Amino acid sequence: MHNVVVFGSLNMDLAIESERMPKQGETIPGWGFFVNAGGKGANQAVAAAKSGVPTYLIGAVGNDAFGDQLVSGLAGYGVRVDEVFRAGSTETGVAVVLRAQGDNRIILSPGANHALGIDEVNSGLDMLARKGDVFLAQLECDLDTTVEALKSARERGMHTMINLAPPREIPAEAWSYIDTVCVNETECEAVCGIYPDDEDSVRSALEALVALGPKTAIVTLGGRGSAALADGRFIRQEAQRVKVADTTAAGDTFIGVIAAAQVSGLSIEEGMRWASCAAGITASRVGAQQSIPTAVEVDTYLKEVCNE
Ligand code: RIB
Repeated sequence: MHNVVVFGSLNMDLAIESERMPKQGETIPGWGFFVNAGGKGANQAVAAAKSGVPTYLIGAVGNDAFGDQLVSGLAGYGVRVDEVFRAGSTETGVAVVLRAQGDNRIILSPGANHALGIDEVNSGLDMLARKGDVFLAQLECDLDTTVEALKSARERGMHTMINLAPPREIPAEAWSYIDTVCVNETECEAVCGIYPDDEDSVRSALEALVALGPKTAIVTLGGRGSAALADGRFIRQEAQRVKVADTTAAGDTFIGVIAAAQVSGLSIEEGMRWASCAAGITASRVGAQQSIPTAVEVDTYLKEVCNE
């Protein structure tokens, strides 16, 4: 089987819940503070590994206790961490996650996530990359390194995927290195100027994303499910109906499972069905990596709850 190779961020998430988000200058009571492993790159790697495919993470942590905990946690979930570097001069990435009414707002201190240059990523790819593997990146690491990494992965014959999160402009040349682009609603609007709020705008947005260069564009729509344009085919997937506890890492789960489905040879329709179910389970639980389901859990849910 082919591998999923993620180049991406590792953060320790410091999460707290409150009745609502505070206004400017306001202090409000909260509850349920907890510390748990996150980071978009690491979360997506965990989702792929829990789906049962060989998954490697190229990234960096600081030389500190959070870094130790993140690396050992990932290894426990089955992510191969030999190419996670230790940045001596900066701290591990930290995300402060404010949760209210099932939604979240995140403030990020990237720390070591910005420490890697293309030489380190290439040394990881030299060890890991094989033609036909999936290379998956996001935008929480250094942008120049991310673009060069996409180029390098493409030159090695990998299938390149990017999740444009958090949204920021990428150089025009980067689009020519991307096979599959994944965005949520706000990222979609930031990238192509179209907010996908009804079926027509979903299609227009996907067409606009594909016009930038990728063969496949996928947009996640929260409770309205997800949609894709793949090799000219429009695909629509409903969301699972779950009681939402915390949406943190639900999008990462979706993308990691799509990457796993790609290396497993599943169709995009099948991949989106699994990804949607896995993301729904993640949203029904609290936390980031700890809430991501295994393939067995997704299979059981599809059989027992969806009667499939
Ligand atoms: O996508 C969710 C993740 O975003 C959190 O785990 C947090 O670390 C931020 O990177």
